[in-house]
Amino acid sequence: MDTNKRPETMKRITTPELAQAFIDEQITKMREQIGDKKVLLALSGGVDSSVVAALLIKAIGKQLVCVHVNHGLLRKGEPEQVIKVFRDEMDANLVYVDATDRFLDLLKDVDDPEEKRKIIGGEFIKVFAEEAAKLDGIEFLAQGTIYPDILESKDGIKAHHNVGGLPEDMDFELVEPVKLLYKDEVRVVGKELGLPDDMNYRQPFPGPGLGVRCPGAITRERLEAVRESDAILREEFKKEGLEGKVWQYFTVVPDFKSTGIKDGKRTFAWPVIIRAINTTDVVEVSVEHLRPEFMDHLVSRIISEVDGVNRVLYDFTPKPPATVEYE
Ligand code: XMP
Repeated sequence: MDTNKRPETMKRITTPELAQAFIDEQITKMREQIGDKKVLLALSGGVDSSVVAALLIKAIGKQLVCVHVNHGLLRKGEPEQVIKVFRDEMDANLVYVDATDRFLDLLKDVDDPEEKRKIIGGEFIKVFAEEAAKLDGIEFLAQGTIYPDILESKDGIKAHHNVGGLPEDMDFELVEPVKLLYKDEVRVVGKELGLPDDMNYRQPFPGPGLGVRCPGAITRERLEAVRESDAILREEFKKEGLEGKVWQYFTVVPDFKSTGIKDGKRTFAWPVIIRAINTTDVVEVSVEHLRPEFMDHLVSRIISEVDGVNRVLYDFTPKPPATVEYE
């Protein structure tokens, strides 16, 4: 039997009852597979790896070791939330690695987008492998593979560019409890497992993180402007009732400055670009149009709260011709 094929008889998980049945079934299965051995998981804080972590914590508790690598390109509050939810609330065995300096030092002066992605992906694997090497007796590697990943890699559509891609020579047996689920089902399961809504309904976030939203060579100052403006945007979208409704929204701070004026003095600072898009398949993307008053409010908060910024722009371009991300 092809274990990577979703059986035609498998019911779509849409209710808490179906989610609970799935959770019970997976717990039994994983306990059988794993026995008293240890499992390693790269926990990014995204929906898929978080659901896998929560399932494994229920099934095998401290036999699971979660490693959360902060590459310095995460959104504001993300590493803190991972620690709070998994270490503090679920009592998980969590190794937190703040590798910010390592990544930012390597990325210094690198302006080619593909080179940036390669460095981030490669260094992530290195950090993760180093942490794995410090642990004894790990025999399994858990992954948040979901069904679209399997379908897309089968059809050769998507060269897996996720930072979650791990070294092929790591000799572990895989544990992939959600590999036959679609994204909406993963969220229903996550809710039933008690994950917070802002983790469960989180918008897609690229593996290389804010790195691709700080086009060109990343500097700490410009990265901070991306992080702060993104945090404001997310907070305001939530207040506006747009969280969970708009597919993806974020800010970009490009590497050029323009002239402005503040308190009667000339400024020379970056613009913040806002992008908010809707899609079903990410192949074709349309732009979300915001209320004019809401836009004004966003501009005023970003301008007054984000250092080094004197302009706010809105990206009205659909995909195609523009991609979602800037790099
Ligand atoms: P693009 O920019 O290709 O984005 O139109 C389509 C979707 O993919 C996400 N994206 C990435 N996700 N690693 C990821 O895990 C990446 O390198 C990457 N690049 C883009 C993007 O956020 C959007 O949802």
